[in-house]
Amino acid sequence: MNNVTIAGIGAYVPSLVVTNEKISEFVDTNNDWIVERTGITERRISEGENTSDISIEAAKIALERAGVKAEDLDLIIVATISPDMFIPSVACIMQSKLNAGKAACFDISVACSGFLYGLEIANSMMKSMNYKNALVVGAEVLSKVMDWSDRGTCILFGDGGGAAVLKNEPSDSKGIIKSYLRSDGAKGEALTIGAADFNTPFTKEPQLKDRIIKMNGREVFKFATNAIVESVNEILKDTGVSLDEIKYIVPHQANYRIIKSAANKLGIDEERWYLNLDRFGNTSAGSVPIVLNEMYEKNLINKGDKFILVAFGGGLTYAATLVEW
Ligand code: ACO
Repeated sequence: MNNVTIAGIGAYVPSLVVTNEKISEFVDTNNDWIVERTGITERRISEGENTSDISIEAAKIALERAGVKAEDLDLIIVATISPDMFIPSVACIMQSKLNAGKAACFDISVACSGFLYGLEIANSMMKSMNYKNALVVGAEVLSKVMDWSDRGTCILFGDGGGAAVLKNEPSDSKGIIKSYLRSDGAKGEALTIGAADFNTPFTKEPQLKDRIIKMNGREVFKFATNAIVESVNEILKDTGVSLDEIKYIVPHQANYRIIKSAANKLGIDEERWYLNLDRFGNTSAGSVPIVLNEMYEKNLINKGDKFILVAFGGGLTYAATLVEW
């Protein structure tokens, strides 16, 4: 029987390391506060590489590891809230630069939960359209939309991305077993990035948008902890898989305290939650594939291992995916 499996993973982050000390040169903050409240010590910031550049570098690694040629891709989905442009999509820019001529290409806007939504969309489309190979990317250059004078947000985020090549073929691995996807649009105002101004010869009242991240940190914090707990519980309940069978929880890397609080509520040892937010901060849709790639490179995930990806973010949105490697 055909299963949709993750056949290759890759990631790419810009080379510039921006420490907490560096940020405290231009906003009123300090290393101790940031480490204590978030767990973050540094992040990567783009000096000009755009979201498509990061996505392409990550994709090349994933394609190579999967042994798939770009021209054999049937589908490219990019999860991002910081695309190069509204159109063409990052996925279409990638198609052109990678020579993935036969792929259907589009971006999705699901903030930090985007990579997980992308995996399930690809999984479903591969089955319904009989696609063989797909590329799912989560990538951001959030520094473009950051308010670098707001210490409540600019300390949290970083740039980077990751990519997964999915194959739909007979396999011993169950691959993507189940997804749990949810949204809470009523809480959307807690985390916003404005789009184009609305000011035409016909608008009654011009609406000028701030094209920067605005966030109610405490509101998002509360939401995030509950979202992780609900998503992990629901995916276990849905599949009948027990916690003992799960090797790792791979969470969206937003804040160490959010993950610690969710881990306590779920009663899952912190050692089973893989973290790298100390070095990369919150890379939004990039965070889960960047973590997966690091785990792969450290040989922490092996054939047959089951793990749960879990994420939450703007929208507000949240998701969990049970995967067998
Ligand atoms: N340095 C020093 N002091 C600060 C800083 C800073 N960088 N930021 C805020 N403070 C101050 C505040 O002004 C406040 O001071 P006051 O008490 O004098 O008013 C005090 O520290 C406490 O502020 P809180 O906002 O209550 O701090 P909190 O402990 O909640 O931490 C944080 C703030 C880190 C933003 C936290 O709320 C958080 O991580 N929230 C979740 C954010 C998140 O994960 N967002 C991403 C979602 S994913 C996506 O889709 C993009």
